Amino acid sequence: MPVTPSSPSGRVTAVVGLQWGDEGKGKLVDRLAPGFDAVVRYNGGANAGHSVVVGDKRFSMHLTPSGILHPGVLAVIASGVVVHPPTLLGELDVLRRAGVDVSALRVSTRAHVVMPYHLEQDALRERILAGQTNAGEGEPIGTTRRGIGPAYADRAHRAGAIRVGDLADENLLREKLRLACLFKNRTLAPSLDHHPGYSVEALLPDGLAWGAALRPHLVDTTYLLHELLDQGRNILAEGANGALLDVDHGGYPFVTSSNSTVLGFGPGTGVPERRVERVVGICKAYSTRVGSGPRPTEQTNEHGDRIRERGREFGTTTGRPRRCGWIDLVAVRYAAMINGATEIALTLLDVLAGFDELPVATAYEIDGQTTHRFPPDAGALAKARPIYDALPGFAEDVSRATSWNDLPDNARRYVEFIENFVNVPVRTISVGPDRNQTIDR
Ligand code: GDP
Ligand code: IMO
Ligand code: MG
Repeated sequence: MPVTPSSPSGRVTAVVGLQWGDEGKGKLVDRLAPGFDAVVRYNGGANAGHSVVVGDKRFSMHLTPSGILHPGVLAVIASGVVVHPPTLLGELDVLRRAGVDVSALRVSTRAHVVMPYHLEQDALRERILAGQTNAGEGEPIGTTRRGIGPAYADRAHRAGAIRVGDLADENLLREKLRLACLFKNRTLAPSLDHHPGYSVEALLPDGLAWGAALRPHLVDTTYLLHELLDQGRNILAEGANGALLDVDHGGYPFVTSSNSTVLGFGPGTGVPERRVERVVGICKAYSTRVGSGPRPTEQTNEHGDRIRERGREFGTTTGRPRRCGWIDLVAVRYAAMINGATEIALTLLDVLAGFDELPVATAYEIDGQTTHRFPPDAGALAKARPIYDALPGFAEDVSRATSWNDLPDNARRYVEFIENFVNVPVRTISVGPDRNQTIDR
């Protein structure tokens, strides 16, 4: 067999959250996208809410990759995503009405579908957990109620789970729904008050309509991504959720149901992880989370309130107030480690203007012992008391800064402290929601 010269090889850059989500991934992906041929979502579903601000327009993407705003860039929803078709189709409508061409959207036929019963199952789990009274045992996860956990559970369960490609094949869809109804009528429906039960007849018309609407976008994204890479084209991976919500490596069980670190990229796309050469870890200058679960540096006081107000920290997906607090560098360093972050983009630095002092957590005390390790299970994390270094604050408004030298000395010291502690360079600093409010260092 003749030896063929090696073909050009494209590379993957990944943008991932280093905290509990909402770090500003959407903004950074939108900013980086023009340098890539495709932006690909590989994990999660409509639990994500990625905001992109362009001038006076704000787009909230839950399923659509944030690269969609850039003509010529493919927006790919890969097989690892769980897709709620009404949410995706609604989002496409909003984008179209705003004049965005959405023809570059590609959706994997193998991505799993979030069905109406998954939303009911998500809510039921939360209600059951809320009804339990054993301290620390029965706390609801505080999910986004987008059906994420039940959809991934059905994917693993393999009985009547529906993939996006099935929606375009009436006979196959009918058979899958028959199985799904069989299982849901034995397991879920009896737990719901006055539920009439699930039927193929009730579910089929919506399923077929979704299939028809999505048909122009359906492809085998695994081959698509490999073809792009083989042609020397570069891909931007858009992580959803955040490292500390990763189902395997986050603060279990207060996590989401997918690998939200870069570790999810291979399984979620079918592209080997060695193709990922650059990992941009997005990190807020402070920290927030929505939903339940321990979070050592949370400030349930005027400092937390001030951060929430200045950072407009209310969930993009659910509108819930985010739980705000100081930056937790024990957690960020752990997140950078498991992601192999090659650089950090520090976001929302503008929000910290006006604090006299900026505490940063650099260790925990757990059961009287000092540790620099993040314990990725909720029980141990709940016992962690943060040990802070106090850095001097800065009073100046930094939202108009366009270069490193525009930043006040104490803001620069804050950034330098973070990169030295995490041992990953901060290459980008975001000082406002707009594309342009970004400093490349
Ligand atoms: P994502 O889920 O990681 O994409 O983040 P979200 O979009 O859910 O939340 C980040 C929020 O902060 C959004 O409202 C952004 O518009 C906004 N944002 C992003 N970067 C900055 C920044 O540097 N400063 C300020 N003030 N807001 C920012
Ligand atoms: P983006 O991509 C913030 C949180 C939920 C809850 C837990 C499990 O915008 O950063 P789920 O609905 O996934 O079963 O909820 O995970 N969560 C997020 N928090 N940003 C997100 O996404 C999140 N995705 C999930 O609040 O605590
Ligand atoms: Mg978000």
